[in-house]
Amino acid sequence: MFATFAAGGNVLIQGASRGIGREFVRQCLAESRVGQVVATCRSPANATELAALAATAAGRLTVLPLDVTNEASIAAAAAATARTLPRLHVVVNCTGILHEAAYDMQPEKRLADVRPESLALAFAVNAIGPLLVARHFEPLLAHADRAVFASLSARVGSIEDNRLGGWYAYRASKAAQNMYTRTLAIEWARSRRNVICVALHPGTTDTDLSRPFQGNVPEGKLFGVERAVSQLLEVIDRMQPADTGQFFAWDGERIPW
Ligand SMILES: NC(=O)c1ccc[n+]([C@@H]2O[C@H](COP(=O)([O-])OP(=O)(O)OC[C@H]3O[C@@H](n4cnc5c(N)ncnc54)[C@H](OP(=O)(O)O)[C@@H]3O)[C@@H](O)[C@H]2O)c1
Repeated sequence: MFATFAAGGNVLIQGASRGIGREFVRQCLAESRVGQVVATCRSPANATELAALAATAAGRLTVLPLDVTNEASIAAAAAATARTLPRLHVVVNCTGILHEAAYDMQPEKRLADVRPESLALAFAVNAIGPLLVARHFEPLLAHADRAVFASLSARVGSIEDNRLGGWYAYRASKAAQNMYTRTLAIEWARSRRNVICVALHPGTTDTDLSRPFQGNVPEGKLFGVERAVSQLLEVIDRMQPADTGQFFAWDGERIPW
């Protein structure tokens, strides 16, 4: 893992309090080729498992507050990172929202379930959030080393792959996230040629996000977080400059936009 990156490369995991993001932090810390790991989340005080990882990380893990719906917090986290690290080599956006009890948000089964508040929240977290992270952390990618900027998307955000319908807010916000990723990749292919910018589908993974919807997942198709993250790290490690601006699944297969 990380064989293709400079030894001592630094990693940012955005959305690290739970699920796939937290497991990214754990596996990156376990990898000796990784230098520093910066983990961000909305509420570090409540992220007790991140604190436990920090306690055994021998100074390699920094946990910072960042809420993707609060641009000032993104700017503050980028500034705090820049004060201690000269550059980042891997950035993984792991935040995502499908359902949220506090906002009475559930994936829509039909048009009658559509609520503007849920659509706006999904767009803010899933689409606009990773783009603002790129906007504020870009200076830390301005170097000559190979770097990967990856945003966790979802296959259901593929317009071409949509055969079932439903899930209006999640599907459309992930499609918008994909468009932002593609547009950013085109800009960075001109201005930040060292950065490979991609969208990644983790596969259905056993986390709080998928838990209410795991009933229909075929046998053997539900990944534990450990497997999901090690697969994604392999995909990230294999990325080549020609892959920038594409959407990849956990097994490296290209997904149509
Ligand atoms: N699990 C799957 O089957 C699956 C499938 C396809 C794609 N994905 C994608 O993979 C990514 C990770 O999902 P997951 O399964 O790990 O989900 P999860 O366990 O529900 O974790 C979601 C993460 O997003 C964070 N988050 C939510 N709103 C935020 C905000 N405003 N600012 C900052 N962080 C925020 C949460 O932080 P708090 O603890 O503060 O709430 C949490 O760390 C998402 O983009 C998801 O769409 C997952």
